[in-house]
This record gives sequence, structure tokens and C-alpha cells, in this order.
Amino acid sequence: MKFLVTAGPTREPIDPVRFISNRSSGKMGYAVARAASQRGHEVVLVSGPVSVQPVAGVTVVHVETAEEMCAAVRARVEWCDALVMAAAVADWRPARVSGQKMKKDRGSLDLSLEPTPDILRSMATLKGARIFVGFAAETETVVEEATRKLREKNLDLIVANDVSRRDSGFDSENNEVILLARDGSRSDLPLMSKIDVALRIVSWIESRRTS
Ligand code: PMT
Repeated sequence: MKFLVTAGPTREPIDPVRFISNRSSGKMGYAVARAASQRGHEVVLVSGPVSVQPVAGVTVVHVETAEEMCAAVRARVEWCDALVMAAAVADWRPARVSGQKMKKDRGSLDLSLEPTPDILRSMATLKGARIFVGFAAETETVVEEATRKLREKNLDLIVANDVSRRDSGFDSENNEVILLARDGSRSDLPLMSKIDVALRIVSWIESRRTS
């Protein structure tokens, strides 16, 4: 199968030296790319700025902003059989980007933010028979929020993780997730390494493809 995977944060510039971003390290998305490649699939990884080691045999497309990630996914989504969005795409970006470094002697700074494009939602018309998997990064009512996103983003599977924990989610070696499928099935996985989580996701996708 052909896997298109996203990983890492996006960076939304404020001026030439500052940006808005989040705590994603890219480890979860890179683990999905590694797992799919280990299972013999062809993988393209669209990566935000991270310091994770590249995965042998995986083509990496480097992006910075949500807009760039959206364009990179759009350009390749028709090529893939499965899209796995593990990236933590910034939800907002500065409405105006200053061309010059902003001076701090101007005092306090009010930033006006606008929403970034919702990448998964904007791919809905290109989905066809492709398998779309999203992640839900939540700090409360994890299952309810993830279920809402599964439905609203027209996904086949959503991987819900509680990102308020220190031993799981953002920038940790391990993750504890709940797999929620479109057909209503639910699988609560214990805390495990991100590569083991990734292998479970890849095997779920493989089972859908062959069923
Ligand atoms: O990178 P790590 O440090 O290993 O951490 C892993 C992780 C916590 C980042 C990962 O497990 C995870 O939860 N990734 C999704 C983070 C996120 O953006 O969740 P969300 O609930 O805000 O978004 C839901 C889904 O929509 C995600 O698949 C996201 O990629 C996608 N999305 C979000 C915003 C946007 N503008 N476009 C999108 O497509």
C-alpha cells in the first residue's frame, strides 16, 4: 500500500525571527512512517520542523507552516491508499506577518490570530476509497471530542490521546491511545512505545484494506 503520513508541529510566523507553534516532537508521526515502511509499504512523510532522525527508505517532504503542509498533502493525497495525520497542525496563525523583526521597545504586543486551513477536512472531496486516519490531541472529555472529530472530519479511524499527561502524548517515548473507528468499534490500548502504537495503526489499516 501507499502511505502518506504527516508528523511534527507547524510554525506560523509572527515576524522573521518569531513564530507560534506547539510541543509536537514528531516522534509519533515518524513512528507511523517507520512502522509502515517496516511492513513493506511505500511511504511519503510530510514533516514539520523536528529533530527526529530520518527513516531509511521513507521519502520526506519538509514543510514549515500549516498552509505548506496543506499544499504538500493535497499534492500527494490522490497517490496514496492511506493518509495518517499525526501532525499537530497549528490551529491559528497571525493575521499579519511583519516583514521586519518587531521591536520590543514598542511595549506590549497584541496579536490578531486567524484560523489555519483544516487539512483533513479540506481533503474530504479527494477521499474516495482511501483510508483516512486522524489523531485527536485532547486534555478533557477525550473520547467525546475524538468522536466528534472522527465524524466532522469524515475519518475511518481516530487515534485519541490525552495530551495532559507527561508520560504520553507530546514529546514522550510512549503513548496511551484509544482507537475509535467509524463503525463504532473501540480499542483501548495500554501505555506502550510509539512504534508499537504505530504498528497497531498500520495493522488496523491493513485489515481494512483486505476486508
Ligand atoms: O509529535 P509527538 O511529540 O510524538 O506527539 C504526538 C502527538 C501528540 C502530536 C500526536 O499523537 C497527535 O495527537 N497528533 C494530532 C495533534 C492534533 O493536531 O490534534 P487535533 O485534535 O488538534 O486535530 C485533529 C486532527 O486534525 C489531527 O489528525 C490533525 O493532524 C488534523 N488537523 C488539525 C488542524 C488542522 N488545521 N488541520 C488538520 O488536518
